[in-house]
Amino acid sequence: MRSLVRFQLAPHVDFPPGFFDRADPSPDPAFYRPLRLVTHIDDGAIAAVGALYAELQIDGDVLDLMSSWVSHFTQRPRHLTVLGMNDDELAANPQAQARVVHDLNADPTLPFPADSFDAAVCCVSVDYLVHPVEVFAEVARVVRPGGTFVCTFSNRCFPTKAIRGWLYASDAEHGEIVAEYFRRSGGFGEPVIERRTPEGHFGDPLWAVWAPVVRLADA
Ligand SMILES: C[S@@+](CC[C@H](N)C(=O)[O-])C[C@H]1O[C@@H](n2cnc3c(N)ncnc32)[C@H](O)[C@@H]1O
Repeated sequence: MRSLVRFQLAPHVDFPPGFFDRADPSPDPAFYRPLRLVTHIDDGAIAAVGALYAELQIDGDVLDLMSSWVSHFTQRPRHLTVLGMNDDELAANPQAQARVVHDLNADPTLPFPADSFDAAVCCVSVDYLVHPVEVFAEVARVVRPGGTFVCTFSNRCFPTKAIRGWLYASDAEHGEIVAEYFRRSGGFGEPVIERRTPEGHFGDPLWAVWAPVVRLADA
């Protein structure tokens, strides 16, 4: 897709008008009501997600944001909480011990006390958030300082539900967009952006952006 967003916004520059609009602006619960026990990326990309979680030692009390029936850990964390839109999908997640149905586009506030988790992850879903900076700030509130938030994404999506800014950006720009969410939320150290499947890889590419929670008093 032709790239219309050159994503090098200075800190004081807002996202362009319409960036967070979606072709289907209707409330999300109706769209996510049908059960989808499918995988949204291929086996190679799923393996790359699991390998990254293992490399970053994502364990302990972990929150999987915008989750479904698979969380992609190679080794199940000590306690995994999954948050998403479809209760039946979350109930079918074999790695989860706790589940919460919560629409982050209707209310970006996470329904957990501060410092509830050691880490958080969000797989192939960040492109659906219409208030991402608020959600990232909430992740920084509920994850303990030093804990990592890992966002992974590929080049597939539900196009009517993805934000317009994402649809018009390239893979490299997606990394910059997510990094900007981390920076603007004010709760993280400088994010790392990496392509996790090799260049020329046959199959779904997998990109990741991650950063540790850093509270002002610790900076
Ligand atoms: C492409 S699926 C990815 C699911 C899972 N993370 C995975 O790796 O297979 C997108 C997920 O985002 C969740 N989601 C979409 N909009 C949401 C919203 N407004 N609030 C919370 N979760 C949402 C849906 O429940 C859905 O499971």
